[in-house]
Amino acid sequence: MLDIKVDLKPHFQRRTTPYHPTEFGRLRSDHMFLMDYDEGNWHHPRIVPYGPLSLYPGAKILNYGQGIFEGQKAFRHDDGELYLFRADEHAQRLNQSAAKMCLPPLLENDQLQALETLLDIDRHCTPTQEDSCLYIRPLLFGNEDALGVNPSKSYLYCLFFSPSGSYYDHSKALRLFLTKKFHRAAPGGSGQAKAAGNYGGSLYALQRAHELGAFQVLYLDVNNQRIEETGASNHFHVNQRDGVILPRFTDTILESITARSIMSLEGRLGIAIQPESIGTDAFIADIKRKYIREAGVLGTAMVVGGVGEYVFDSGKVLSVGDGRVGPITQKIYTLLRNIQTGKEEAPEGWLKKVPRLL
Ligand code: PLP
Ligand code: COI
Repeated sequence: MLDIKVDLKPHFQRRTTPYHPTEFGRLRSDHMFLMDYDEGNWHHPRIVPYGPLSLYPGAKILNYGQGIFEGQKAFRHDDGELYLFRADEHAQRLNQSAAKMCLPPLLENDQLQALETLLDIDRHCTPTQEDSCLYIRPLLFGNEDALGVNPSKSYLYCLFFSPSGSYYDHSKALRLFLTKKFHRAAPGGSGQAKAAGNYGGSLYALQRAHELGAFQVLYLDVNNQRIEETGASNHFHVNQRDGVILPRFTDTILESITARSIMSLEGRLGIAIQPESIGTDAFIADIKRKYIREAGVLGTAMVVGGVGEYVFDSGKVLSVGDGRVGPITQKIYTLLRNIQTGKEEAPEGWLKKVPRLL
């Protein structure tokens, strides 16, 4: 059990009116959780007003990117209570990413305690409008002021919230940039972890994607043989038998908790969902001959979205199906969102009600 010191903003400085976020990730709740690590121990767990951190310019995270993050969500249900979606899975994955980046693990129970305590304090910051959520961002990074290229001797764990709207307009099909020139992750690298550097390294190709009118980059493996994932989500398609195909997870793909959740909803959806290794050339040929009926992206922030077009390095554009958000994509989105928001029953253990401690 953590002994969390709580130092709150005076009431008059706290949010009193409901949030109506119009975008993802811009707004903040009133407080954040911080905890330090050095000499083999986590210590000084505290909740303080959300604000800037103090870091030395020589901090490992700033110089060598030794840091990871997670992304998860909480939703207010019609009973007025706040529910976390798959919080235990996210806590586990934080430790998997931590191991990959030589960061110290943080007990899952301690992560959950920190999260529930901060959520209870800032529960009033949860938006309720259509497509909104309280987005949760845990960070863990090396903050030692030392320039040797080796793991930091000290770390900071930080947890903060963003009252968020949708990442994009779910009614519109997205265009993805399918490129053979840019790559996200190599075998044996950190692609499977939510390492900060994976995202920094993806921005250059994302810029090109935006020039081509695309929303995200759809990355291939380094040999351009297989479809992998986008810079911020997994990717799927629907084949001519109405089966959903996800890429088989490798060490160059982040194992999405959304993807795993959807796979276990197969029965309820009445759709076969399976992972496969997806050859790039076969994928493109199957889109052209309309064997691929729909495609989409999925992840915590993205939820489930339809892909209507791919644009290639040449600038040529290829439509998928009829170019709109497909019915199977829509069905998966609706079930997932209904489960998260309490409108349909959640599988055992997926939702955790945030206890009222105050
Ligand atoms: N792949 C990448 C690169 C991501 O950043 C994300 C987002 O978290 C995902 C996949 C989807 O993972 P999850 O569903 O666990 O959020
Ligand atoms: C998430 O889906 O939670 C992510 O972390 C993706 C992106 C916003 C970086």
